[in-house]
Amino acid sequence: MLIENTIILSHRLIKGGYRLLTLKSSKIAPMVQPGQFVHLRVPPSADAVLRRPFSVFRAQAGRLAILYKTVGKGTQAMEALRTGDEVNLVGPLGNGYPNVCKNSLPVLVAGGYGMAALYLVAQRTKVKGIVFVGGKCADDILCADDFRRLGWNVRVATEDGSTGQKGLVTRILDAWLNKKPRGRTPEFFACGPNGLLKAICKRVGRNGWDGWISMDRHMGCGLGACLACVQKVRKRDASGKETWAWARVCTEGPVFACRDIVWEDNGMKQTSNTQHRTSNVE
Ligand SMILES: Cc1cc2nc3c(=O)[nH]c(=O)nc-3n(C[C@H](O)[C@H](O)[C@H](O)COP(=O)(O)OP(=O)(O)OC[C@H]3O[C@@H](n4cnc5c(N)ncnc54)[C@H](O)[C@@H]3O)c2cc1C
Ligand code: FES
Repeated sequence: MLIENTIILSHRLIKGGYRLLTLKSSKIAPMVQPGQFVHLRVPPSADAVLRRPFSVFRAQAGRLAILYKTVGKGTQAMEALRTGDEVNLVGPLGNGYPNVCKNSLPVLVAGGYGMAALYLVAQRTKVKGIVFVGGKCADDILCADDFRRLGWNVRVATEDGSTGQKGLVTRILDAWLNKKPRGRTPEFFACGPNGLLKAICKRVGRNGWDGWISMDRHMGCGLGACLACVQKVRKRDASGKETWAWARVCTEGPVFACRDIVWEDNGMKQTSNTQHRTSNVE
């Protein structure tokens, strides 16, 4: 983990409230693993003193990019950033996604800016898999062409039907699953609103597959010290009996195995931010 003063190479509105921020980063960018995030110091603003966490969308020699949606004071302040401005980052943070298992078929499922966290998974995996992406409307479908350019099969659903199949992303996923894809066993990598993550875990658990989800939490320190970001996870006690424990999303996550998440009574209120990703779930 490093602290770096990066310089903005470009900053542009993509569509809807989504912006792409590309930063010159010689230290953090080369270290980033898929699913990791950076903690960004937002421009000085009376009400936004804490850093804000963003998944690394792209990382290559000397530069990294984040794809963000304006939802509140911090991201609003970020809109004013211009090419050449300095942005302080801490990162890369979090565990990131594991490598795709040999012989499995990677299945990525994203809602809204969840696509940003999954792009590096697709880019750094040799096997070409399938991506299911959902949103409320066409503006929420962010980088489908980036995945297509990598040779991945991309399926899109929007709630209003403005692009792709009309309905929830789980609808197109289930249609594909119902055809009982032959060959490699699916392995799931998901990022999006809590309802989507829960729906993926349900399908993964039912079929005994492997699945990995990236959780979204309010963060304070991003370094494991303040406990602002905890999530209930399954654990075995010394006698082997199943119990639960709090895990810090910033350090033990943000990626967790589906089988480890305790969904009941884990305070859906904790994850209110997931409303900014889309509600494209069953
Ligand atoms: C690991 C991780 C990766 C992320 N990656 C991205 C990304 O790639 N692109 C992107 O656009 N966003 C991403 N986010 C979410 C992003 O951090 C928040 O949208 C941002 O911090 C909001 O800051 P703000 O000051 O604009 O909003 P605020 O003014 O702080 O909040 C606006 C509203 O959102 C709620 N809220 C804000 N942050 C959170 C949170 N983390 N959890 C729950 N509720 C929250 C607040 O209660 C308030 O209702 C990620 C979050 C995490 C934890
Ligand atoms: S944000 Fe402080 S412990 Fe996770």
